[in-house]
Amino acid sequence: MDGGFTVQPLGASHDRKIFRCGVEPLDRYFREQAAQDVRRRISNCFVACDEGGTVAGYYTFAATSFPLVDLPEGDAKRLPRYGMIPAGLIGRLAVDARFRGQRLGAALVINAARRAANADPAIFALVVDAKDEAALGFYAHLGFRQFVSRPMSLFLPIATVMKAIGVSEG
Ligand SMILES: CC(C)(COP(=O)(O)OP(=O)(O)OC[C@H]1O[C@@H](n2cnc3c(N)ncnc32)[C@H](O)[C@@H]1OP(=O)(O)O)[C@@H](O)C(=O)NCCC(=O)NCCS
Repeated sequence: MDGGFTVQPLGASHDRKIFRCGVEPLDRYFREQAAQDVRRRISNCFVACDEGGTVAGYYTFAATSFPLVDLPEGDAKRLPRYGMIPAGLIGRLAVDARFRGQRLGAALVINAARRAANADPAIFALVVDAKDEAALGFYAHLGFRQFVSRPMSLFLPIATVMKAIGVSEG
């Protein structure tokens, strides 16, 4: 990853106590719950660390799926008529206030897309639930689009990300 940051699975060496993104539930989740969710195979957690090992951002990642009919018509018609479409859920994503505005949030989304592209189970898209209008704006800025029936949930096809970052998918 650019800017001297590396992305790693959350581990025992990462200090979870000093992380502050300004949204207390996201800080508390990272401090108290994230490692347990990983252990229980509920959600993986990946952290971006600076050169000194300080956690600058994190996201959680888990398998999910969504109904084909939730896609806008133009997207749905390019897919087979299967009821459910496989996806990767970025359940939580946060960047420490000290590290904002360095494109770290965007880099974490791209990191998730690369993992999804390389996963053995097929994953069509990333899915996020925006917790407020600011988060909605951030994801929309990155190219996520709203599901038809759930405007605070958004999707971004993996193929779109790969094309945007210049990775050819055969
Ligand atoms: C949302 C958040 C992750 C963004 O992190 P960040 O590292 O500061 O964002 P980036 O620098 O990667 O921003 C990438 C792009 O999105 C834009 N952007 C950032 N926040 C935005 C917003 N709220 N609305 C619209 N665009 C936004 C940036 O200007 C940047 O644009 P550019 O690449 O064209 O210059 C961070 O503000 C945060 O942790 N917020 C609190 C937690 C939160 O809301 N999480 C969201 C999911 S629940």
